[in-house]
This record gives sequence, C-alpha cells and structure tokens, in this order.
Amino acid sequence: MRTIVHLSDLHFGRVDAGLVEPLIETVRAARPHVVVISGDLTQRARAWQFKEARTFLDALPKPQIVVPGNHDVPLYNVFARFLTPLENYRRYVSADLEPFYRDEEIAVLGLNTARSLTFKNGRINQEQLQVIRSRFSFKEPGVTKILATHHPFDLPKGHDEDDLVGRARTAMERLAACRIDILLAGHLHVSHSGHTADRYRIAGYSALVVSAGTALSERRRGEQNSFNLLHIDWPRATVSRCVWNPDQNRFVEAQSEIFAHGAEGWRQVAEPPKTEAS
Ligand SMILES: [Fe+2]
Ligand SMILES: [Fe+2]
Repeated sequence: MRTIVHLSDLHFGRVDAGLVEPLIETVRAARPHVVVISGDLTQRARAWQFKEARTFLDALPKPQIVVPGNHDVPLYNVFARFLTPLENYRRYVSADLEPFYRDEEIAVLGLNTARSLTFKNGRINQEQLQVIRSRFSFKEPGVTKILATHHPFDLPKGHDEDDLVGRARTAMERLAACRIDILLAGHLHVSHSGHTADRYRIAGYSALVVSAGTALSERRRGEQNSFNLLHIDWPRATVSRCVWNPDQNRFVEAQSEIFAHGAEGWRQVAEPPKTEAS
C-alpha cells in the first residue's frame, strides 16, 4: 500500500498564514511515500513568494513531485514572462520540469502545463507526450501509474471547457495507450473526482481524475482549504479529502471515495456516508 499526499494551489503571497503549520503537521503525520504538489506555488511568481514556498517544501516529507502552475509564470513583467518564464521556479523549486518517482507499487510523473502565451490556460505538448510514453510504457502488473499536471483533464459540472488542459483529447489517447491510472491536478480551487470515460470515449479505458482544492490560498471559491490523501493498493484506490476545520483549527478527513480497477478501467465501488467537516 502506498500513501500519496496531493496538495495544490498553495499561492504563497496570498496564503492564510494560520494554516501553514497545521498543514505541515498533518502532511507529516500522514507519513506519505510521495508528496505531489500540482502547481500554483505562488501568487505572482515573485522571488520572495518562491522563497516562502521553498521553506514550506523543505518542511514536508520527501520525495516530492512538484509542477508549476500558471501563477508561477510572471504575469506583469513581460520580458520575464516570455524570455525566462520559469526562472524563479527553477531557482527556488526545481529545475526538473519532468519529475518522476517510481517504486514497486507506484510510478508518478509530473509535467509542466503552464505556458507564457496564455495567462490562465495550460497545454501539454508533443515532447511531453513522448515523456509520458517513455516513463509509462512498462507493463509490470500492479504498478499504479499516476500523472500530475496543474491543469485538469476533467472538470466538475458547471465549469468551462477552457479550464481543461489544452490538447487533452490528443493526450488522452496516449494516456490510454500507456494505461495511466490516475490523473492529479489543481487549478480550479475545487475538490473533484471523476472518470475520464465520462468525457473521453476510449474503449476499455477510464482513468481516475482527482483535482485538489487550494491548500493555503485565501481564494477558496466557495470551499474550505483542503488537500487530498490517496491510499493506493492495487487494484484499489481510496481518495480522501482533508478539509480545514476552523472550529477545530486543524485539517480533518471529511470524505473518502473508494475506487477499483476493472475491465472498463477505474470505477467507484462505494461511497461512504459523508461527514461534515465544518
Ligand atoms: Fe491556483
Ligand atoms: Fe492555476
């Protein structure tokens, strides 16, 4: 069994400061095998914001799979935006924009979907599809394949398709060919889980799509701050949502969903009664 902590949209520069230490404590207590952070580490890609993000990363368990988000590309400094868009990210977070972790039970790849040419939207390109192929073409059974990007491959109801990662449909064919199991994303500041088969019809394939809310940002879009905790024990995966409870001044597990892998891909097998976190 493997435990993954999935954080997203930290937005240092606009964090709710009282949540930082409780989040670090909760993540450490989960004793994860991997910590995934799916982008938007900062609010405006400023050096001081990345320094704060660096201090936070240093306090979390390792290994870490971290990818940038659209907020990690400078917005107003046009020269930096187009000439050195990820300079601060590379300096303070990581120069590796294709981070990869693998052990006997899970393989996790992170890819950068943030782009200079669009302010908000993201993309996946041909080179990255090649990276997906080279990292995930192995066929050993029982290894759960996980891809982390900032921009999501699926959306909760009511969201505009513009929020999907660009070239998602082309990429989905590659993901299906490599039998990617789980897609982790952020960007929406909304927790959500779904199945790729609901949006992309590929025979015999349905990956699990898991989006995390914002862990620390003050821009909560109607939800409390939260993060995801995944327990993976092939062919099952449990996705739990840990939500900030202001009354208890801590993150608490609010909801769990259990999924199983079968002939048609990943499907939810049980939905335990929801408990109210706040
Ligand atoms: Fe964000
Ligand atoms: Fe974003």
